[in-house]
Amino acid sequence: MVKHQDLFGLENKVAVLTGAASGIGFATAELLAELGSNVIILDIDEEKGKVATEKILAKGGEASYFKCDVTSSSDCEMAIKEIETQFGRIDILFNNAGVIRRRNVVDLEEKDWDLVLDVSLKGAYLLSKYAIPVMAKNNGGSIINTGSGWGLKGGNEAVSYCAAKAGVVNLTRAMAIDHGKQNIRVNCVCPGDTDTPLLRDEANQLNEEENAFLVSSALGRPIERLGTPRDIANAVLFLASDLSTWVSGTVLTVDGGGLA
Ligand SMILES: NC(=O)c1ccc[n+]([C@@H]2O[C@H](COP(=O)([O-])OP(=O)(O)OC[C@H]3O[C@@H](n4cnc5c(N)ncnc54)[C@H](O)[C@@H]3O)[C@@H](O)[C@H]2O)c1
Repeated sequence: MVKHQDLFGLENKVAVLTGAASGIGFATAELLAELGSNVIILDIDEEKGKVATEKILAKGGEASYFKCDVTSSSDCEMAIKEIETQFGRIDILFNNAGVIRRRNVVDLEEKDWDLVLDVSLKGAYLLSKYAIPVMAKNNGGSIINTGSGWGLKGGNEAVSYCAAKAGVVNLTRAMAIDHGKQNIRVNCVCPGDTDTPLLRDEANQLNEEENAFLVSSALGRPIERLGTPRDIANAVLFLASDLSTWVSGTVLTVDGGGLA
């Protein structure tokens, strides 16, 4: 019988996850910790980050929290330096922090254009910039970037988000080409509508009733429901683990068939 620990190869791996105080990032941190990885939660929200870490520790997992604004070069550099000092290596990087602004190009304020691009796209660049040399010193690793279905097609009233996520998709491919020689795989997971605080906040931004918005977001998919954070975490698990050792530069859409 194959043991799942051997199949996934995640035991004692050091996994750094951004935006992991909540939603998809937290579900992924929980899952990787369940499979034996030491998870490091990077998030701008200190209160939620500490609660998330405590939850994983309470279940017997290994977890720590570092406050990090992924749009800040100095925060990213310091976090990676500290992680290298404390843990000696980085095996997995999940660039997942994101925010959304539901506005068209006329109504969107410039600061919100910058914020959405900076968190999703620049954040993935900055963390990777500092983490890759550490990964490379220890025989490589796996980077997973969070895109979106709206990185692959357009969506209404979300111009900065669609632009940022399309950027994340092609950043992934370019990084995969550059860092394969260091045995670093780079892949992208593209979730469809998943029940997290970010999705619920979209209802508020669009002045729609939250439950009606969630119901309408689930409609029209072959698997007709919203995604759960765990649905997305399972896909990230595959890309982080030894099950995908020859998968790089790819985009894995996880959306109940919505884009089919
Ligand atoms: N929920 C969905 O329907 C959906 C669909 C497609 C893609 N995504 C993407 O999934 C990712 C995770 O989103 P989620 O739905 O779990 O949302 P979420 O709001 O539950 O989690 C996002 C996390 O990112 C953190 N964050 C925001 N700005 C940050 C910054 N500057 N630095 C560090 N951390 C920061 C937040 O504090 C929060 O903990 C995002 O990239 C999002 O765009 C979500």
